[in-house]
Amino acid sequence: MSKNETQPNIPQHIAIIMDGNGRWAQARGKQRVFGHKAGMERAREMAEVCGELGVKYLTLFAFSSENWNRPKDEVSFLMELFATSLKNESKKLNKNNVRLTVIGDKDGFDKALRKAIDKAEALTAGNDGLFLQIAANYGGRWDIVQAAKKLAEAGQEITEASIEEHLVTSGGPAPDLLIRTGGEERISNFLLWQAAYSELYFSPKLWPDFDREALQQAINNFNQRQRRFGKTGEQVTTADKGD
Ligand code: FPP
Repeated sequence: MSKNETQPNIPQHIAIIMDGNGRWAQARGKQRVFGHKAGMERAREMAEVCGELGVKYLTLFAFSSENWNRPKDEVSFLMELFATSLKNESKKLNKNNVRLTVIGDKDGFDKALRKAIDKAEALTAGNDGLFLQIAANYGGRWDIVQAAKKLAEAGQEITEASIEEHLVTSGGPAPDLLIRTGGEERISNFLLWQAAYSELYFSPKLWPDFDREALQQAINNFNQRQRRFGKTGEQVTTADKGD
């Protein structure tokens, strides 16, 4: 469904913790990596759907700072899948006016992957359609610490604004809607600073099953929320009326 007229309030920024790939594969008697492959397909589809709906920013949690602790074979598979997908998809993303950036500690990746990331980012840098942020080797605590270190090194004052300016998401809006699939209800060190006022939505669906309709349901649910940002409900309602 791409009817904006029935969607008065499309979140400007959706962030997703794509959980449940392993369980999805295991439920089919397959290896966990089979689920990651299906998860990648789903990520690609989600970017298309978000572009169609007019979502401006989509941030996908692909690999956390803690995921290095997984079995070696699974980590290697994920790195390979990431590199291959960047190579295979970047032309199509570019054609679709998508701007891709990878947020996270890129120094943790091998040279070939860093090169693939740089190439995909450079190719799509001029696009102004969907802004797709892939969080890889990312952790919310790492993000805050790296911002604080930069400020300390530059001898700059620590304020909310100066920290925000040095986060890897600098310049973009905070997520309006943060979705986690796979039935768990926690943030797991994703966008800790940025999600301060995000609406949280937890889906029991495993990520490879999280389709267009499931996203639509999440958006509909988001539309029923009143975002107060610390104000009272009455203040928000009055402001909505333009007073
Ligand atoms: C969580 O499922 C998923 C991951 C740790 C990896 C996510 C990666 C992809 C969706 C593919 C790559 C996508 C991009 C955009 C590069 P899990 O393995 O923790 O599942 P489980 O909870 O069932 O074990």
